[in-house]
Amino acid sequence: MSIGASRYHEHVTESITITDNRSGESVEIPIDQGGVDSKPWNQLMPGVWFNDPSFGTTAAADSTVTELDGVNGILRYRGYPIEQLAERSSYLEVAYLLVNGELPTAEEFETWRYEITHHTFIHENVRKKFLEGFHHDAHPMGILVATIAALSTFYPEAKDIFDPEVRRKQIVRLIAKMPTLAAGAYRFSRGMPFVYPDNSLDFSANFLSMLFKTAEPRYDANPVLAKALDVLFILHADHEQNCSTTAMRTVGSAHADPYVATAAAASALYGPRHGGANEAVLHMLERIGSIDNVPAFIDRVKAGEERLMGFGHRVYKNFDPRATIIKNTAYEVFDVTGKSPLLDIALKLEEVALADNYFVDRKLYPNVDFYSGLIYQAMGFPMDMFTVLFAIPRVAGWLSHYTELLEQDQRIIRPRQIYVGAGERDYVPFSIR
Ligand code: SDX
Repeated sequence: MSIGASRYHEHVTESITITDNRSGESVEIPIDQGGVDSKPWNQLMPGVWFNDPSFGTTAAADSTVTELDGVNGILRYRGYPIEQLAERSSYLEVAYLLVNGELPTAEEFETWRYEITHHTFIHENVRKKFLEGFHHDAHPMGILVATIAALSTFYPEAKDIFDPEVRRKQIVRLIAKMPTLAAGAYRFSRGMPFVYPDNSLDFSANFLSMLFKTAEPRYDANPVLAKALDVLFILHADHEQNCSTTAMRTVGSAHADPYVATAAAASALYGPRHGGANEAVLHMLERIGSIDNVPAFIDRVKAGEERLMGFGHRVYKNFDPRATIIKNTAYEVFDVTGKSPLLDIALKLEEVALADNYFVDRKLYPNVDFYSGLIYQAMGFPMDMFTVLFAIPRVAGWLSHYTELLEQDQRIIRPRQIYVGAGERDYVPFSIR
């Protein structure tokens, strides 16, 4: 899968100079495309590591997939603004763009759509032995992580990661099967029979059918809800070097197959600080309970006793452009489903927080998760499915980065550390401990 042409950059002559005061030696390092190369640092000061545990100041990749500008609230997939893609594209087309680097021609898209549609089925053993083997109250994200990894054992040829055609087939399988696995996890957790994919439906409508079909011969999703879900899938498809993508690139750099690497990424997304935040927002809104309780909750956040879930972001220090689009989509969904009683609490929280210096000074604004959970709940999804809904489209982004690191022949990711533990000491027997 070829990566789209990287954007031409006019290299500038800006630079930094670092001096090792122990030796008096200096080295000038160009500032190139917003970064400085670590090699001159290492040559000047071997064994002196740049200490950055959460990688907050470290560029972990040269990437052509997604561009974020946190100051100006810009998000572009392969150069295309998220606002235009959300309004004019579809998730399947965006998945093609992310994985291939370019928008498809009509013929390329039809081939892509046909392939994805005809890889939505999962092996019966994945359903019978895995999906149905979990405890009755298993969290759908735990089921999803495990079944994604299990696919690695059903497609052993996936280990041939440097064969572009083999890799492409696994990418198609994963993008196509994520909704089937997700819907299967949901149906199992509700004690309902598994619903097979309906190849006559598009990606989002088929997913809603596998989730909510009951006795009717064919499930016809409300077109407004299917479209809203497709927009949410577009908005969640990639987000450069976030925690789960970093997990994908780390595991991928060891040349693990795409299934187990995706399972690692989905595991990271499960965390409440990352993809689990949309579920945590709903729990938070339910705990607040009413608009009257918002000021007291905000006080507890400012006292460090609570965290305002759905607010804040490592990169966006202004607004998250996805949150703006999701907020508009919410109103379209509520016109169909009726307004969520929690919406008023969310709107009040946003109003109070955006007027409070604690949040303004820390540049804390609503992120992608603040309103998405309200939409999912209004569409009938239970809270434990919210992160699953994040993982389904994000697999396209994860696989784009996986492909990129292999095509860049990236070395295995193995950071150094600052050792701050005990110095050398001798072993002592129990009797004198
Ligand atoms: C996603 O990386 C991505 O791109 C992720 C994502 C994607 O698409 O992949 O965008 C998806 O993960 C969105 C974020 C979802 N998570 C949440 O909504 C959980 C709540 N948010 C936080 O936990 C936090 O804001 C993070 C994790 C998102 C960002 O954390 P940082 O960058 O490490 O910021 P920080 O923890 O260093 O906070 C800086 C200050 C601290 O206060 P001080 O110590 O300076 O006094 O801001 C405070 C924090 O206490 N702070 C918050 C807060 N987030 C940060 N205070 C209250 N509520 C919050 N939500």
